[in-house]
Amino acid sequence: MKIEDIKLRIIADSKGKDTLEAEMESGGIRVVASVPAGESTGKNEAKVIAPRAALEKVSWLTTQLKDHDFAELSQFDGLLNTLDGTLDKSNLGANLILSLSLCFTKLLANISGLQTWELISRISGQKPSLPLCLFNVIEGGVHIPHHSVQDSAPNLPFQEYWFIPQTHSPREALDRCLALLKVLEKKIAAEYGKVQMGAEGGFTVPSKNAEDGLKILKEVMEELGEEANLGLDVAASTFFKDGKYILGEKVMDANGLLSYYRLLTTNPSTALGAGYQLFSIEDPFAETDWTGFTNITKELGSNIWIVGDDLTTTNPAMIKKAKELNAVNSVIIKTTQIGTVSETIQAANLAKNYGWKIIVANRGEETMDNFIADLAVGIGADGLKSGCPLQKERLVKYERLIEIEGTWQN
Ligand code: PGA
Ligand code: ZN
Repeated sequence: MKIEDIKLRIIADSKGKDTLEAEMESGGIRVVASVPAGESTGKNEAKVIAPRAALEKVSWLTTQLKDHDFAELSQFDGLLNTLDGTLDKSNLGANLILSLSLCFTKLLANISGLQTWELISRISGQKPSLPLCLFNVIEGGVHIPHHSVQDSAPNLPFQEYWFIPQTHSPREALDRCLALLKVLEKKIAAEYGKVQMGAEGGFTVPSKNAEDGLKILKEVMEELGEEANLGLDVAASTFFKDGKYILGEKVMDANGLLSYYRLLTTNPSTALGAGYQLFSIEDPFAETDWTGFTNITKELGSNIWIVGDDLTTTNPAMIKKAKELNAVNSVIIKTTQIGTVSETIQAANLAKNYGWKIIVANRGEETMDNFIADLAVGIGADGLKSGCPLQKERLVKYERLIEIEGTWQN
């Protein structure tokens, strides 16, 4: 496939910040892709450059790419990496590289007469499947608005509270989530007075007690007779300072935090604690606290998905390290963390070979691009985490899953 034209422009993401949208043309077919950005990024993520700086690089890059006839995605991504020449993509920028890699994937699928998820399934060698939907319905941490040291409004220390219907029908999952959100909004208004939204469109709960997010969800679910599971993205690096975890008014060491998770997850019948019967916990410890991860996986990992995100950053080297240390049993997969589609697929395949659960995820600042739904289906991911469906940039990914569900042949 020869690339005939590339256009790059700056668009506004869900937070109104600048991000990149690329357009690529070949054989009269034109595709568009845009890249999201993280707000609680892991240290080992590929590096992005300012969107304006990317605009300056694109004409040189286009000239380099136009000389080639690409048979495969790995060849295209490989050339981008060679032209970048760094390990962390800091020269051309992971955002610029990814915008082109996404376009190339969509274009190759289109030209081959395949859906994007079908092409990804062929490349990954994985059987396609519809993932569980992990809806981020309550937000805290660095994802709440006006988060700053001056801001004295209370804020849940955990970043995300997920509602997880145990169904592989995204249509049913979305309906159940929307029904839950209606009641949840009323309940937050009744208990706390005002209802605000976080970065991903989920509600905020003005409390410093991490457990309050789980409590209110449990109450709403009981009211609705809803039997879905709950999950958390703790994003613990965001409240780890000088060896201590600062959880609202509670300050604890790693052992204290592990005891706290034990309390939150314990089955109520043992009368040891609240027992929210959590299905999954993402980044329960700071990304430097490997011992914390290993201990929780050993203790709770047989029942709960212990998920690496900032810890593993969709990076094969970090995923291997996590395997050696038995630090997780599940992993977040984000295209932006590694910067090309082929490397994203490689990272997912590696984790899958370890028998881990795979969750494809959106970023704190999103666009209307729905690529990650196809990615989740094509690599046979166990979950798709795309924020709260009340925000349109999040909803389009769930809607794409529903569209795929409608054409499902199996
Ligand atoms: P992000 O956080 O803001 O870095 O995208 C989302 C997450 O931690 O999963
Ligand atoms: Zn995370």
